[in-house]
Amino acid sequence: MRFTGKTALITGGTSGMGLATAHRLVEEGAQVIVTGRTRGRVDQAAAALGPNALGVVADAADLGDLTALMAAIETRYGRLDILFANAGTGTFKPFAEITEADFDQSVAVNVKGVFFTIQKALPLLADGASIVINASWTLHRGNGILTLYSATKAAAHNLARTLAAELAPRGIRVNSVSPGYIDTPMYPAAALSEAEAAAITGRVVAGRFGRAEEVAAAVAFLSSAEASYVNGQDLVIDGGLVAAIPA
Ligand SMILES: NC(=O)c1ccc[n+]([C@@H]2O[C@H](COP(=O)([O-])OP(=O)(O)OC[C@H]3O[C@@H](n4cnc5c(N)ncnc54)[C@H](OP(=O)(O)O)[C@@H]3O)[C@@H](O)[C@H]2O)c1
Repeated sequence: MRFTGKTALITGGTSGMGLATAHRLVEEGAQVIVTGRTRGRVDQAAAALGPNALGVVADAADLGDLTALMAAIETRYGRLDILFANAGTGTFKPFAEITEADFDQSVAVNVKGVFFTIQKALPLLADGASIVINASWTLHRGNGILTLYSATKAAAHNLARTLAAELAPRGIRVNSVSPGYIDTPMYPAAALSEAEAAAITGRVVAGRFGRAEEVAAAVAFLSSAEASYVNGQDLVIDGGLVAAIPA
């Protein structure tokens, strides 16, 4: 029960790692606010999470939505102790085929969205709060067809470093996580052919996809007092994908 009495905002909390983290934090005593772009998915997630959750429809790329989100949190809870800036999107195409619209969409959610989510949450964040940004293993290792996505995630992690310094006087820690191949609706293992899945898992020392719950456990750690001296870091949760070549 590390989070009893704590309030946490998780953007993109309707599925995948965001929802798994919301479950983990609620199980450990937190009040959790989850966001998504549609009423149906937000309500479904909030209902699954139970009475200690609030669902708010808010597009992470829309500054008006972010302002309204923070107002709703202030009215209901008055403060935030944990922020998981998790909402993200991906365009997976060869570099030459990426359009300006693709670029604007990815930057709007993964960079602008994370930047202004944190900025607008700032007045609500208690001294000593924790911010975790969901980045990606692709910021550590080049991979064709992931140019745009990787660039946005590198920017997202860079925010963790600079904000760790800027927010340190308030005791607010800022870290990122870099998941590897995690089986979620964004990257569903079941949608791959056997050969495709084998090609992916063959790159991973652990020899398998990761689970959303495994990322949630790491986000919970970074959000807790146990990580009190961890700041400006990126925690890679990838089964060894970035660090080592399978034997
Ligand atoms: N899966 C992987 O292998 C992997 C690896 C590294 C990093 N990541 C990152 O992990 C994060 C979570 O992804 P996931 O894999 O858990 O996928 P997911 O299940 O598809 O979750 C994405 C979440 O983001 C929300 N979202 C998307 N665009 C949004 C927007 N503009 N405003 C608000 N919410 C938005 C979605 O909500 P609605 O659809 O309900 O709006 C959903 O809750 C993303 O930042 C992703 O880039 C994923």
